[in-house]
Amino acid sequence: MLHYKKFAVIGTLFALTVIGMSAIRPAEDGKPPKRNLKVLPKDISHDALDSTMDAWKSALGVKCGFCHAPSADSTSHHLDFASDAKPEKNMARHMYTMTAKINKKYFSFDKDDKSMVAAVSCKTCHRGSPHPDEVK
Ligand code: HEC
Ligand code: HEC
Repeated sequence: MLHYKKFAVIGTLFALTVIGMSAIRPAEDGKPPKRNLKVLPKDISHDALDSTMDAWKSALGVKCGFCHAPSADSTSHHLDFASDAKPEKNMARHMYTMTAKINKKYFSFDKDDKSMVAAVSCKTCHRGSPHPDEVK
């Protein structure tokens, strides 16, 4: 009986510790628990995501904050990468889908053939500007 009580107490403490840890974790490292990916592969590696973002940034000649909203936490100077608050981010998703369709339909781009480079990329139109319609 005494043993049983001891286990029950330890068990409860353990459960509370686990619940407590999961409750404070998101605030601790400042990262959202889940990725908010709607067009890129959900299992994209950290490196591939990084280089994709760098490519978009330089194709448009902008900074990360052009598409990504600032963190809601005003004490933080970081961007909230998972947030969809900036319309430019959704526009970029739209553009990504369009670009993939152009390659697939008109250039028979085979995503499994690693030797083949996508014919059309963000840079093809943007050439360092967010507004290709204004590029001279
Ligand atoms: C032209 C717009 C644009 C620019 C510039 C841009 N991003 Fe993104 N970023 C996006 C979009 C759109 C997504 C979501 C992709 C999806 O839905 O699959 C995203 C997703 C991300 C994510 C994943 C967020 C999550 O949900 O976990 C990270 C991290 C990220 N971007 C970092 C960066 C960094 C760092 C830079 C600057 C080097 C940058 N981005 C520049 C549009 C942009
Ligand atoms: C076929 C040409 C073309 C390609 C390819 C293209 N874009 Fe665009 N993009 C445009 C045009 C044209 C506009 C301006 C639309 C407008 O003014 O309404 C635009 C606008 C945008 C905007 C909105 C800018 C703003 O100020 O709101 C974003 C963000 C964007 N593109 C991101 C991308 C990304 C990221 C890629 C690659 C994944 C890409 N685009 C590929 C032609 C293209």
